[in-house]
Amino acid sequence: MTVLPAIATLGTEKHLSGNQHLAQLEPGKVFMMGDNPALPKMPKRPTLADFFRLRLGLDSFTTRHMLHSARRAQLLGLDEPVVLACLLHDIAVGGLLRSHHGHWGAQLLAPYVSEEVAWAIRQHEIARFFADSSVGYDYPDAYDAFFGPEYDPPEHVREAYKEVRAHRWYMSARLVAINDVYTFTDEDDVDISEFEDVIGRHFRQPAEGLGFDGSPVAHMWRTMIWPNNFL
Ligand SMILES: [Fe+2]
Ligand SMILES: [Fe+2]
Repeated sequence: MTVLPAIATLGTEKHLSGNQHLAQLEPGKVFMMGDNPALPKMPKRPTLADFFRLRLGLDSFTTRHMLHSARRAQLLGLDEPVVLACLLHDIAVGGLLRSHHGHWGAQLLAPYVSEEVAWAIRQHEIARFFADSSVGYDYPDAYDAFFGPEYDPPEHVREAYKEVRAHRWYMSARLVAINDVYTFTDEDDVDISEFEDVIGRHFRQPAEGLGFDGSPVAHMWRTMIWPNNFL
C-alpha cells in the first residue's frame, strides 16, 4: 500500500483520506517498503544519468525540456558549467518538488557541482520572471498562458530578484533563463548520453552512488529512489 506524500495532497480532498491510511491496514496488507515494483529498479550505485533514465524518465516533458535547454546552450557556445546548469535546472520538477524547484534542485546538487552552478539553478526560478532587455530576455509568453496576463510576482520574489540582479553570478542564472524554453519538437530530441563529457567534467559523481555517499543530501536522492516508502 502506498500513501501519497502530504505535500502532494495538501489543498486537495486526498489529503484527509490520505491521513486515514492506518485505517486501511488489514491482515495481509502492508505499507510500501523497499523497491516499488511499479518503478524501474535502480542500480546499487546510481549515477546522475541513472536518475535521468530510471526516475525522471527520458520521455518526460521536463527531461526533454532540460536536454533541449542544454543543447541550446551548447549551440550558443556557452561555457560547460552553464550547459550543465541548463541540463539540471528543473531536476526538482522532474523528480522531487515543483514549488521552489530552483531551491530544491540546487540543494540536491550542491555537493556535486560548483557553487556557481548550484547558485544559477537556485536563482533561475526568480530570473525567469523578470525581463532584461540588455540581453534580449523578455518576460516569457508562456508565463502569460501559465499564470494569466495579470500575474505579478509577490513582494518576496521581487526582493529576491534585486539580490540576484546585483550578484556577481547574475549572468549564469540569466543564461539558464534565456535557454529555458519550451519550443522543442520530437525531431529535436536529445539523449542524456550527449552530455556525458560535460557531466564527467563538472559533476562529481560519488563512487558510492548518489544516495549512498553520506552527503548531507543523500536522503534526497534516496527519496527519489524509494519515493513511496513509508519510512
Ligand atoms: Fe525552472
Ligand atoms: Fe525550465
